[in-house]
Amino acid sequence: MSIPEEFIQDLKNRIDIVSLVGSYVTLKRAGRNMLGLCPFHNEKTPSFVVSKDRNTFHCFGCGVGGDAITFVRRIENLDYVDAIRFLAQREGLEVPESGRNDGLSALRNRIYEANREAARFYHKYLYSPNGSKALAYLRNRGLTEKTIVHFGLGYSPPSRFELVNYLKEKGFSYTELIQANLANESQRGSPYDRFSDRVMFPIMDLRGNVIAFGGRIMSDIKPKYLNTSDTPAFNKSRNLYALQFAKNKTTDGQLILVEGYMDVIALHQAGFENTIATLGTSLTIEQANIIAKYGKEVIICYDADNAGQNASARAIEILRKTGIKIKVLTVPDGKDPDEFIKAHGENGAARFRLLIEKCGNDIEYQIAKLQLQYDLEQTDQKVAFLTETAKIFARLDNAIERDAYVTKLSEELNIDKNAILAQIRQYARQNSENVQKQRERQWKQQSFVGQERVNPEKKHRLRAANAEEALLAILMTHPDAAQSLCQKLPASMFLTSFHRRVYEVICRRAEQGLGTELSDIAGDFSVDEVSVIHQMAFKRPRETDPFRAADEYIRVLEEEGERMTPEQVAQSDMQTLMEQLQKMKEKKK
Ligand code: UTP
Ligand code: MN
Repeated sequence: MSIPEEFIQDLKNRIDIVSLVGSYVTLKRAGRNMLGLCPFHNEKTPSFVVSKDRNTFHCFGCGVGGDAITFVRRIENLDYVDAIRFLAQREGLEVPESGRNDGLSALRNRIYEANREAARFYHKYLYSPNGSKALAYLRNRGLTEKTIVHFGLGYSPPSRFELVNYLKEKGFSYTELIQANLANESQRGSPYDRFSDRVMFPIMDLRGNVIAFGGRIMSDIKPKYLNTSDTPAFNKSRNLYALQFAKNKTTDGQLILVEGYMDVIALHQAGFENTIATLGTSLTIEQANIIAKYGKEVIICYDADNAGQNASARAIEILRKTGIKIKVLTVPDGKDPDEFIKAHGENGAARFRLLIEKCGNDIEYQIAKLQLQYDLEQTDQKVAFLTETAKIFARLDNAIERDAYVTKLSEELNIDKNAILAQIRQYARQNSENVQKQRERQWKQQSFVGQERVNPEKKHRLRAANAEEALLAILMTHPDAAQSLCQKLPASMFLTSFHRRVYEVICRRAEQGLGTELSDIAGDFSVDEVSVIHQMAFKRPRETDPFRAADEYIRVLEEEGERMTPEQVAQSDMQTLMEQLQKMKEKKK
């Protein structure tokens, strides 16, 4: 770790966890705590608690928890050191650097550098004589010189070694190129270019780092697009293409969400610079949260084909959870936005502007889509249609919104409004029961799976593990107890290795007279591990007499230490059996 301990302490003292979390999540007061919707899993009723007293957060739904720094690590996808830098910047503090860098963020920086060099290389290659075919392809698709430069488009050489050689010259190691996913490793263990003979689309984060690439083949060979896989510097479900441009161009808070790189580029060129796209996967809740952070309204503008329409339905579902306003634009004639713009030549932009102006919101879109499936002149079909619409309205939490739609529909179809409303209420009740059940299932699964991954030994040594957790909780919540307990208890008394590791970290700090609370030790653990440690520290009541309680748990550990594990039992059974056989043999002699 390169950042001085005093600085971290000072920073922690300044952070107000309520206002920090509050800048991502809408929080309401609930007794001594604050309550909101968990940003780390999907939920409709709040189970995410922020405690100002303890300086921690915890979700009763999915089990995540920890201190302010852990929250930033999780929500901004940063490692410990970068999370501290992020928070320092937020507090207006200068981070004292000691030159050294921690492993992961150093690797990440090398990947950014390698990617930047690669992007320059591809761009140059596009304008070299060897790139003429690719350049003609882009021009033929209607892109101007300015657009090609603005998006930093490029071309990857057909041979499979040019980028690798170039970057090696620049001082990058083979391991770095493979970690960056710019190179693949051949069976003989030598690296070769991952992208070859493709038009290259660099992908950037909001700070302007090149984090990944998409590469389009210029023929019918599959896959059409090849993308960078996830790397230490890139997570495809947490980034959006062209957001670095779009975030400053939202007109009235509006963002346009499309499917493809080329759709984004064509729309930007036509003046819709508030357009973004997902990166070759369907929209994730993390991306939806980012969209809701930068926009007030999103226009989903996916392809008109079946796949695109199904993707729209899913995107609506996910985006609704963030509370952002949603509209859905369907491009006519089965075209995608890029093809639409191009097909209308000079009028492309104006025609697309009209589509934006007349597109409806998500509910209107869903109803219109349903309406196509039924013949509303026939009574039985009309009933079936109303039943389906009632299901859609039942998902609306806002009663006024519901009422407005029902009034309109009842007038159009000449049906009693109250009959429709009654039907909706029934579905709404069912929904909330299902949601409740689903949440319980999710909770059981996630909290179990999280524990299981972090401490797989626990289930074999349940009694010991519980005593260990109780002891660790005492050490974290009674700093005075930590120092003396650490002196008398050897780490080997801990029977599960995860708990032993937590214990060792606590003791190392206690010996140096440093703090041993959750926020003090969190930097030594992954965010999932912090969640589990947080649960052990706070799910039990504070001990009134920590020293006596500790003695009791130590006694349990002593007992358990002498007890054999099932494997040891099996082994010793085997040993007894062998001994008996040996004896029988000897008798025979
Ligand atoms: P599309 O197949 O709709 O392509 O994929 P497109 O964007 O219209 O591309 P052009 O116009 O033919 O060049 C939409 C998006 O899905 C991802 C890419 O991000 C693409 O932009 N995709 C598609 C892949 O990641 N891999 C593929 O093989 C195909
Ligand atoms: Mn297209």
